[in-house]
Amino acid sequence: MLDQIQAVKTRALAELAAIVDLDELETWRIQHLGKKGTITQLLRGLGQLSPADRPRVGQAANEAKQALEAALAARREALEAARLAQALAAERIDVSLPGRSPRLGTRHLISRTVREICDVFVAMGFNVVEGPEVEWDHYNFEMLNIPPDHPARDMWDTMYIGEVGAPMLLRTHTSPVQARYMETHQPPIRIVVPGKCYRYEDVDATHEMMFYQIEGLAVDTDITLADLKGVLDRFARALFGPDRKTLFRCDYFPFVEPGVEMAIDCHMCHGAGCKLCKGTGWLEIMGAGVVHPKVLEGVGYDPAKYSGFAFGMGP
Ligand code: DAH
Repeated sequence: MLDQIQAVKTRALAELAAIVDLDELETWRIQHLGKKGTITQLLRGLGQLSPADRPRVGQAANEAKQALEAALAARREALEAARLAQALAAERIDVSLPGRSPRLGTRHLISRTVREICDVFVAMGFNVVEGPEVEWDHYNFEMLNIPPDHPARDMWDTMYIGEVGAPMLLRTHTSPVQARYMETHQPPIRIVVPGKCYRYEDVDATHEMMFYQIEGLAVDTDITLADLKGVLDRFARALFGPDRKTLFRCDYFPFVEPGVEMAIDCHMCHGAGCKLCKGTGWLEIMGAGVVHPKVLEGVGYDPAKYSGFAFGMGP
């Protein structure tokens, strides 16, 4: 029996020495130290021994059990340490590696231009506001002094939502926001309105169905065409350079009276005439004017008390 104990112990220790992972270690534990394990079975066998042999053999069996338990603990500790070391090595961060550079986007040229233009007006005390792109005929036309069947509707190639002549459309300009804003605010008003507009266009290098406009509106007591000229002169110099010349000529828009178009001297030929300015020396950059009394009346303002100027440009 003593030899048997010795043999079990020697074999178990030899097996243990060959174990390289924690799963195998658990199998080994069950095999030797578990409820049906080799050592446990030896201890159970003690009952059949004579009382004289029992203490000696029992002691040897217990010693063998303790030796295996101690060896198991040592092996487990070693394997766990090895596993930790391996994980640390695998997950090591090399702080000397160059970082992954963030993927940067840039703002679109049009977005940048719209912001630049708005900033110039913001510096003069204007607020930036927006309005809907899907609009009622009411705001896009009627509130701007353009009743149904008015010939001026031909100035805009309108895309209606639904049937032609239906009351809903894609706004053809940013001007409807003038009426929307005045309906909900009282003078003094100074706003610029950037946004997308839509017209039924033949698309080519300089024409799109969707394009941008920036609308401007100022309403207060005693506003005149001179205020309009002062603000737009200043705008032209801020955006196009301090030497820029401006030209205001009569034009017609139903929602202003008088109506004007504003031009700047051509930056390519400085007024001499070239391809860009079609030989005129001037580049037209926007429509503008003094807000028509009918537009003021339409939003409930008293045209005897208030006046305003408006402008609209396509960046
Ligand atoms: N809405 C006009 C257009 O799209 C441009 C315009 C002209 C706007 C005169 C104005 C204005 O506010 O006063 O053609």
